[in-house]
Amino acid sequence: MKEKLELILKNAAAEINEAKNLADLENVKLKYLSRKGELNTIKKNLKDLSDDDKRIIGALANKISNQLDDLITEKNNEIYKIELDKKLNEEKIDITLPSDFRPQGKIHPLTQTINEIVEIFQGLGFSVMPAEYSPEVETEYINFDMLNFPPDHPAKDMQDTFYTKTAPNVILRSQTSGAQIRQMLHHQPPVRVISPGRVYRCESVSARKNNLFHQIEGLLVDKDITFGDLKGILNEFVRIYFGSARPTRFRASYFPFTEPSAEVDVQCIMCEGKGCRTCSGTGWLEILGSGTVHANVLKNVGIDPEIYSGFAFGMGVERLTMLKYAINDIRLFFNNDIRFLKQF
Ligand code: DAH
Repeated sequence: MKEKLELILKNAAAEINEAKNLADLENVKLKYLSRKGELNTIKKNLKDLSDDDKRIIGALANKISNQLDDLITEKNNEIYKIELDKKLNEEKIDITLPSDFRPQGKIHPLTQTINEIVEIFQGLGFSVMPAEYSPEVETEYINFDMLNFPPDHPAKDMQDTFYTKTAPNVILRSQTSGAQIRQMLHHQPPVRVISPGRVYRCESVSARKNNLFHQIEGLLVDKDITFGDLKGILNEFVRIYFGSARPTRFRASYFPFTEPSAEVDVQCIMCEGKGCRTCSGTGWLEILGSGTVHANVLKNVGIDPEIYSGFAFGMGVERLTMLKYAINDIRLFFNNDIRFLKQF
């Protein structure tokens, strides 16, 4: 028995020593120390021995069991440390490596222009109208009638305006000018606001026209406002937006809601005023419509035209962006081609 036990100790110690990983070690433990293991088998046979032998062999079996336990624990720690070191080595993070490339988005050129223009007018004392005064789905009443359009005005025709099926008089607004009405219905003068937004027109799409585009509307109403104030503000705007070298001109025009009305042209950026295809040979490009607010419009919103006067203007955001960056096709703004967009 004693020899048998010593042999178990020798073999088990050798196997523990040779274990390469925690699984090997677990197998050795099962083989020698588990309930059905070799040591227990011997302990079960003790009952056949004399009392003296029982004591001696029993004690020896326990001692060997403890020795093996210690050896296994020691080996376990050793393997654990080796495996941990290996893992730490493999998972080492090199913080000097360049990071992953994450493409960064950019602000759309039209949004950039809107932001820029809003900032210019804020510098001139205007604030941005609350968005709720400027809905894209609008009534004919606000979009046209309140703005002094005669009932049979050709712009109201189906060709220009998108009508909805929701209700007979509900349209997609064709201009941001209706925001003027909503602003004045809510606020008595002094009023000094701008309102950027989308407008819709039922037109065939081309390099120059899209049926969705953006406008920025402006409105100033106060006592003693003259056409000179309008010229001063708009000249200042053009000077800041295009730079002081770009000449402008005011050209008489017609809008139902302003009287007198004027369109503002800037000298053609393609030909410097010599005349080319872009400016149809005129040397000038129109950038906005404007004028003195019509007395009828003031009356429509309950403002006394004998006391107050004002001016309004509306500019095309796509137009202004195209002129500044010499972009020749309005559709580029809406195609979302990253090669175009990332230039801004
Ligand atoms: N709403 C006009 C358009 O879409 C532009 C315009 C002209 C706006 C004169 C104005 C204005 O406020 O006074 O063509």
